[in-house]
Amino acid sequence: MKKILVTRRLLQSNEDRLKDLYDVKLNSNDELYSQQKLIEMSEGCDGILSALTDNLDEQTINKLPDSIKILSNFAVGFGNIDLNAAKKRNIIVTNTPEVLTDATAEIGILLILGACRRASEGIEDAKASNWKWSADYLIGKQLTGTRLGILGMGRIGKKIAKIARSLGMIIHYHNRSKLSSDKEEGAIYHKELKSLLSVSDVLSVCCPASKETINLINKETLEYLPKGAVVTNVARGDIVEDEALIDALNRRKVYAVGLDVYKGEPNLNPGYLKHKSAFILPHLGSATKETRTAMANLAIDNLEEFLKTGNCKNKVN
Ligand code: DGY
Repeated sequence: MKKILVTRRLLQSNEDRLKDLYDVKLNSNDELYSQQKLIEMSEGCDGILSALTDNLDEQTINKLPDSIKILSNFAVGFGNIDLNAAKKRNIIVTNTPEVLTDATAEIGILLILGACRRASEGIEDAKASNWKWSADYLIGKQLTGTRLGILGMGRIGKKIAKIARSLGMIIHYHNRSKLSSDKEEGAIYHKELKSLLSVSDVLSVCCPASKETINLINKETLEYLPKGAVVTNVARGDIVEDEALIDALNRRKVYAVGLDVYKGEPNLNPGYLKHKSAFILPHLGSATKETRTAMANLAIDNLEEFLKTGNCKNKVN
């Protein structure tokens, strides 16, 4: 029987499936393993079912036992793993695409609505019974007729576009390449980031974190946005330079932000907390029972496929 280390606690049905398939080391206390502990725990294992909270950098990967042949990441993103270091050691890395598109797009829309309609302020006032209806109380930005700029028109970006279109938003996007017109569904392509930002009344960051996208939303690029734009991020915190975004909020260049992801999670830049116009969530993108179950099942399918065939369709390195 193959031996698998599972670094974080999973939903019961997924852990039961793992127990049927493998000699499995589960993490019943859901302890966040240090890199050293993760290396020790993986001794004698054939593979690791990892999570986005595991920092599998080059140094850690180089110290993994030779028996490890696969890192099956329980996420669509894989910025927590050094893909090249894994490749050099002949370890394949897999992810869980598609199954979390709908849940993450729902959170993407929640961020847009929450930031535009001043949900943070409203929730605070309602909880404190500190409000009085009036014609100009907590006036926000209406989505109907507003231009939505999507940075990264992959699966999640497309689903956000679809829902936003039904809310009356006008969709613009920037991608490495233009989509075919049937896939665009009327969305307007911008070859240059600057061009997309200049029409983004609301920006939705949906692209993966990579060498090319780290800090892509920074002091310089934020200036291309129309004054009073709303910035939302459902992808990865590393894509946004926090100090620059907080400064743009301070200057009212940016009206509000909607964030689900942060650099150095679970911490976030305290500068955001000073702003009532910051609608912030704790990385809830894929957090529904259906999606987390499907993600873990796909991570297990990836292990199965690799251990049986030596390859996997969801290999990313
Ligand atoms: C992912 O899978 O990358 C998501 O961010 C998890 O919520």
